[in-house]
Amino acid sequence: MMSEMKPSDTMYERVEHAARSIRARWTEDVRVGLVLGSGLGAFADDLQESVSLSYEEIPGFARSTVEGHAGQLVLGKIENVSVAAMQGRFHYYEGYSFEDVVFPIRTFGLLGIKSLVLTNAAGGINVELNQGALMVINDHLNLMHASPLRGAHDARFGARFPDMTEVYARDYQEIAVEEAHNMNLELRRGIYAALTGPSYETPAEIRMLRTLGADAVGMSTVPEAIVARQMGIKVLGISCITNMAAGVIGEPINHDEVIETGARVHETFKELLRRVIPRLQ
Ligand code: HPA
Repeated sequence: MMSEMKPSDTMYERVEHAARSIRARWTEDVRVGLVLGSGLGAFADDLQESVSLSYEEIPGFARSTVEGHAGQLVLGKIENVSVAAMQGRFHYYEGYSFEDVVFPIRTFGLLGIKSLVLTNAAGGINVELNQGALMVINDHLNLMHASPLRGAHDARFGARFPDMTEVYARDYQEIAVEEAHNMNLELRRGIYAALTGPSYETPAEIRMLRTLGADAVGMSTVPEAIVARQMGIKVLGISCITNMAAGVIGEPINHDEVIETGARVHETFKELLRRVIPRLQ
């Protein structure tokens, strides 16, 4: 019998509870966690022996409210590697706290994952990126006003002041670039800037971000990456450039375009993940 949660439970206990409820449905050790961003969820449909859990079934998980996000966790195998894939994530702009946003990542951590693949839809700031291009994240700018680690510290999750020198593992970046090369796919590396959204940026804001060194901009990923690093999980980040950022080509941006571009590249994207995941150690 699974114990009930009490209001006095700490975050750690709530995360443990979520992890236990997932283990009740998928008994294998999960090696890789995946977060599939806007329009990129299809990868999880190809997992073998899969079990899908809607977020409502997992205690402590919030609900997904954004179009293009299915709102379920899919456990399954790819090339014999056991993975847990989120079809859709929680965003700060939906009104969730950062604690809600990163709750699934902490759950992945307690499930024992060693590697986390974070994917997202992003606007291209660097003009060498085109609509539909994929970018490996090599560093980030946290412009979301706060850290997901703000608040009471529980050492069971890791250090109070975790090092952020190499958030996105260099060897994982190499693997992604190598596999893209094998696919004849150009894959650039770049810096991802995270803003809270949900409005897209102004052209002036995009010029500011370019001055700061950003290559792409989005509304996710960074809180998840920070929390993963605190737990000692290695991170691979991949952005799908679904549109050029505001003012770069002078076209307005809309969410349909973001979803459409994701759908257009999803076969390539799936193939890249299929090649990369078994190599993440
Ligand atoms: N800006 C912020 N987030 C995004 C964008 C963008 O242009 N495209 C997709 N996500």
